Order: sequence, then C-alpha cells, then structure tokens
Amino acid sequence: MTSVATDRSVRSLLKQGIGQLREANVPSFTLAAELLLLHAAARDRTWLYAHPEEILSAEITTQYFALIQRRADGEPTQHLTGKQEFWGLEFEVTPDVLIPRPETEHLIEVALDRLALRELRAGRSPRLTGNGITLVDVGTGSGCIAIALAKVLPEASIYATDISTAALIVARRNASRLGVSERIQFLESNLLEGFSPLATNHSRLSFDLIVCNPPYVAQRNAESLPREVRDHEPPAALFAGEEGHELYGALIPQAAQHLKPGGLLVLELGYNSLPAVQPLLDSAHWTNVAVTNDLAGLPRILAAERH
Ligand SMILES: C[S@@+](CC[C@H](N)C(=O)[O-])C[C@H]1O[C@@H](n2cnc3c(N)ncnc32)[C@H](O)[C@@H]1O
Repeated sequence: MTSVATDRSVRSLLKQGIGQLREANVPSFTLAAELLLLHAAARDRTWLYAHPEEILSAEITTQYFALIQRRADGEPTQHLTGKQEFWGLEFEVTPDVLIPRPETEHLIEVALDRLALRELRAGRSPRLTGNGITLVDVGTGSGCIAIALAKVLPEASIYATDISTAALIVARRNASRLGVSERIQFLESNLLEGFSPLATNHSRLSFDLIVCNPPYVAQRNAESLPREVRDHEPPAALFAGEEGHELYGALIPQAAQHLKPGGLLVLELGYNSLPAVQPLLDSAHWTNVAVTNDLAGLPRILAAERH
C-alpha cells in the first residue's frame, strides 16, 4: 500500500520514506529515499539539505511514495530514477543493461595504467591521448566502459560489442547524450566474432586493448543474489553458465587472435573467478599477467599482455 503523508515537508517525507525502506530491509535505505525524493521533485542534492521545511505538492508526494513502494518491493533505485553515475558521468540505465558498478572503474584504471606503461617502455611520453590506439569493449551493456575510455582517450579508435540488441540501443543513447557517439562503433556480436575476417569481409581487425566485464555469476548461485539483481537485471548480463567462468574460456582464445603483439587484455573478475580464469592465460600467448584487488581486497581485475 502506498502511504499518504499528512505532513508534506521535505524532512517529514524523507523520514517516512526512510522508515518504509528500512522496514523492507532495503540496503542503503537513506540514500535510496533521498534519491527517490530528488527524482520525484526533480531537484538536486543541495536543495534537499537547504530546504527541509519546504512543503511539496500532493502530486509529488504521491509520486514519491509510489517510488518508495516499488523500491520496497525490490526494484533497484537506478531503475526508478533511470540513471547511475560512473566515472563521474551520468549514464541512463534501463532493465536492459547492467547497472554500472563502482568496482568496474578499477578496470578502466588498470587499462589506462597498462597503456601508459607500454608508452614508457617504448620510450614515449606516458601522457595518453589514444593516438594510434584501437580498442574494444566486449559486452558493453550501458556503454559505461567504452564511453569512459572515449572521454579519457580522445584520439583512440573505439569499438564496443554486445550480444544484446536492447543493450546496444541504451549504449548508443548514452554515447550520444555524453557527446561521444562519433567516437564509438557499436556492433552486435557474440564476443569478438563480429570482427572475424568472415564477418567483416576484410582482414582481421587487431586491437591494442581489449577490455571486458563479462557475465560471471554461476547459474547455480542465482538464488544467492540479492533480489534487486536476480529479479531485475538482465540474465545475459549476470549468468555465463553453470560455473560462471564460461565466457572467459571463450573470450581469452579469441582475444589472443585479435590482439596485436604487445596488446593488452583487461578483464573484470567475479569474486571467486581468479583460480579458474588465470590458468587460461597460457604462457605461450600471454605475459606480464597481473591481478588487481578491489577496495574490498578481492581479486577484481586480471590484465595480461599478448606476446
Ligand atoms: C556484466 S555485463 C557488463 C556491462 C558493462 N560493460 C558494465 O561493465 O557495466 C555483461 C554484458 O555482456 C553482454 N554479453 C553477454 N554474453 C555476451 C556475448 N557472448 N557476447 C557479447 N556480449 C555478451 C551482456 O548482454 C551484458 O551487457
């Protein structure tokens, strides 16, 4: 049931919303209530703290409590507001794409560090512009990784693939809203198959950098996911197969075919993927293999260089 508030001041609405979300065991209930109130009132954060006594209209109040109820029933806050910040940029999110996660920013940091190191080793300045670099983001989802890289590397040539037509529509919209649609070529493809000579009718495209945050949850662990994730995010973005690491097994050999000598592969890992994935980087093809932990101390990013 949606509550109807008698006191429609900002402070009181927030207090009631927070109470309802806490009762429903919603994680980060205070932040969620704040974001939903801001969304319903179409205001920004400074307003929230500057005007606690302001009385909101009955219409906004009704809309707010409808959102609070949907959040209490399990819909992610980002699906209700339609957005998520990533790499300092605002991304549109819909149920067709994975909501960008903060740990994925580590993947971008590692990719940029490794590219800069490559420049240093070649005796060039490590200041990156992307000049001469061709890269691909495999499984782009909302487009967050490809778009962030397009912003940092204004001269790079950038491709982004996804197997989901619906996700690519959202990614293209994000690229356009964030002013980089001319910079990224989006391609519907199973991993890198769309770049095979057969698919493109010309010689194989070779990359300096391949980045990928693949689906990595084991199908058999579906029940252990939070309801927000399990019931609302796209299954193709979450599950790779029974074990969870199947996509790495398919991607790594393709990446070996598609990287230039000295090219880099940077992968995001599930919290328990490392033991299954690291051995796939055989020494015949790969060197300088390194693991980076996330802020929780979990091995999160695996990077390797093609011989
Ligand atoms: C974990 S999500 C990552 C989305 C985005 N890159 C991010 O980091 O937020 C994985 C993405 O890979 C896509 N995907 C799943 N299987 C794929 C495949 N075989 N080939 C290409 N993309 C695939 C999904 O549709 C989804 O968008």
